[in-house]
Amino acid sequence: MTASILSMEAVSLSFKDKRVLDNLTFSIPRGQTFGFLGPSGAGKTTTIKLLTRQLVKDAGRISLLGRPIEKASPADYERIGILSDTSALYERMSIADNLRFYARTRGVSHGRVPYLLERMGLADSGKTLIKNCSKGMRQRAALAAALVHQPELLFLDEPTSGLDPAARAEVHKMLGELKERGTTVFITTHDMAEADAVCDRVAILNDGAIAACDAPDDLKLRYARNRVVIRTRTRGAFEAAKDAAGAALVDELIRAGELVSIHSDEPNLEEVFLEVTGREF
Ligand SMILES: Nc1ncnc2c1ncn2[C@@H]1O[C@H](COP(=O)(O)OP(=O)(O)OP(=O)(O)O)[C@@H](O)[C@H]1O
Ligand SMILES: [Mg+2]
Repeated sequence: MTASILSMEAVSLSFKDKRVLDNLTFSIPRGQTFGFLGPSGAGKTTTIKLLTRQLVKDAGRISLLGRPIEKASPADYERIGILSDTSALYERMSIADNLRFYARTRGVSHGRVPYLLERMGLADSGKTLIKNCSKGMRQRAALAAALVHQPELLFLDEPTSGLDPAARAEVHKMLGELKERGTTVFITTHDMAEADAVCDRVAILNDGAIAACDAPDDLKLRYARNRVVIRTRTRGAFEAAKDAAGAALVDELIRAGELVSIHSDEPNLEEVFLEVTGREF
């Protein structure tokens, strides 16, 4: 069994009298890509802040790199990379200088900077000042900065928000390579197709509590809508349940020469999300 690199047990947090995280329990084995999903305001960024010690929990236990978070040392933090929703890049410095600066503060060589610029599609923009970058360029530069010291545990808060499809695909490829190297990734996203594609497991957070946690395929099987869409010759299209009544209806439509098609939707993670959280996002 793989040891867990990160875990929370019965963790809660309130801001004043408002409970924001309620009794969170999960654990992430080393090397896994773990998606933390939930509607806006559910508590995803707050959870990352707790796990990276930017906030302190009210109750429960957090284990980071195999020991209680309270005992984490500066050396432990060197093993972690963070892309936050407000990642700090120096506005008046170029992208490449920012990355070299991050390498210096992390105590590693800046030899990987050209490679990271290339991988993030920024090879021709290394000299561009951050203040002149588009949102997508900033996001890619911030991701490169989080990777400069080759962390073994990476927190990514909405890494592909604001990226165009090509840059998004490049980030997904990069995540695949990080996984092959054994990096553990804790990622938040509002893109359910992305979560499905890159995550080994996902937790769905709703109002500060974990409402579901499993492999995407297992969640899809569990929450799949039990319905088919039927198209008819003269009676239009409608949904029917995959049960005896649905079968009888299909039988009748076939006998009447009415059935045009029956379509069973592939269950997807977006449906699971909406079912679990009971809302649109
Ligand atoms: N410092 C703070 N003081 C008071 N309330 C806060 C603070 N930080 C966050 N909150 C509240 O905690 C809740 C969770 O916020 P959080 O930023 O974790 O949500 P999120 O899931 O990351 O949302 P999004 O998808 O929009 O990024 C929200 O209701 C937010 O208003
Ligand atoms: Mg957030």
